[in-house]
Amino acid sequence: MILALETSCDDTCAAVVTGAGDVRANVVSSQGVHDRFGGVVPEIASRHHLELVNAVVDDALGQAGATLDDVELVAVTQGPGLVGALLVGVATAKGIAAGRRLPLAPVDHLQGHVAANFLAPDPIEPPFLCLIASGGHTLLVHVADHRGYEVLGRTLDDAAGEAFDKGARLLGLGYPGGPALSKLATQGDPAAFAFPTAARVPGLDFSFAGLKTALLYTVRDLGEAETARRAPDLAASYEHAIVEALIARVERALAAAPGARLAIGGGVAANRLLRSRAEALGAGVKIPPPEWCTDNAAMIGSAARWVDPVPYPDYLALDAYATSRRRRAA
Ligand code: KG4
Ligand code: ZN
Repeated sequence: MILALETSCDDTCAAVVTGAGDVRANVVSSQGVHDRFGGVVPEIASRHHLELVNAVVDDALGQAGATLDDVELVAVTQGPGLVGALLVGVATAKGIAAGRRLPLAPVDHLQGHVAANFLAPDPIEPPFLCLIASGGHTLLVHVADHRGYEVLGRTLDDAAGEAFDKGARLLGLGYPGGPALSKLATQGDPAAFAFPTAARVPGLDFSFAGLKTALLYTVRDLGEAETARRAPDLAASYEHAIVEALIARVERALAAAPGARLAIGGGVAANRLLRSRAEALGAGVKIPPPEWCTDNAAMIGSAARWVDPVPYPDYLALDAYATSRRRRAA
């Protein structure tokens, strides 16, 4: 059994995953304290991780009907993310592993989002194309094996989740903005406003900065009262633009690789519209359940199955990293 921890942002997560990819427990404690600031406050996130992490680990083991005696490998997100937040997970994982002389598997967060697709009962086998869309990253990648990926396209500015969050903020919705904006969008008309989808950005790269600015100007022109009245239409049109921008690149990639299969991952892959648009692309599209798309530790446990475990005590000097340092397949 693998005990996995994930604390890269504001969710304190622990999971128990088997070597076969069965998820025995997947606990996520969302801090819910950042809403009033309109975003995650790193220092507050770290302190909350510290308060929550032991209880979350106990909860995961309890739900799995396991104890530390059953754990053979400890996995933890090493980066990218908020360093202070990551360090809580890394230090906790080191402590648990060292106490029992267990090996430790450091996992890259983005590889975790890909590896959500490798969990039982319906894993997708490489090769496939994968869209990873989260709050900090938006990538289109080619997954040739279980250990890494090759980047085909990435965002030139904001991430898709960031676009959702910033749009939600402009519409006066809470944080995280993606789910709130998406919920409001169900009551609106996606064709009410024509927001840009960065159609002119060639190739497989993404751009969301123009979209965010377009919403800003529209809101400014409408004024406060009219913006409030048309908020559902604004949300629906804005969500539509983000999703179509993502799907357009996926379609380009699929057109260039006939017969390729597709998987999606990252928090934005929990989005209802993106899921239905991806599904409509045809057979062979793998979409993990929403709770494996938003940050969780099950995906970290999944990815750990293909990470070379670091033996005790070599991992005691292991550090977290803040920015993307993607490891390629050996
Ligand atoms: O992967 P994730 O949980 O954390 C990061 O690694 O960043 O992604 C979080 C992002 C946030 O920007 C959030 O607003 C967005 O995913 N998100 C959504 C939905 N659920 C989460 N965006 C749109 N619709 C959703 N249902
Ligand atoms: Zn994430």
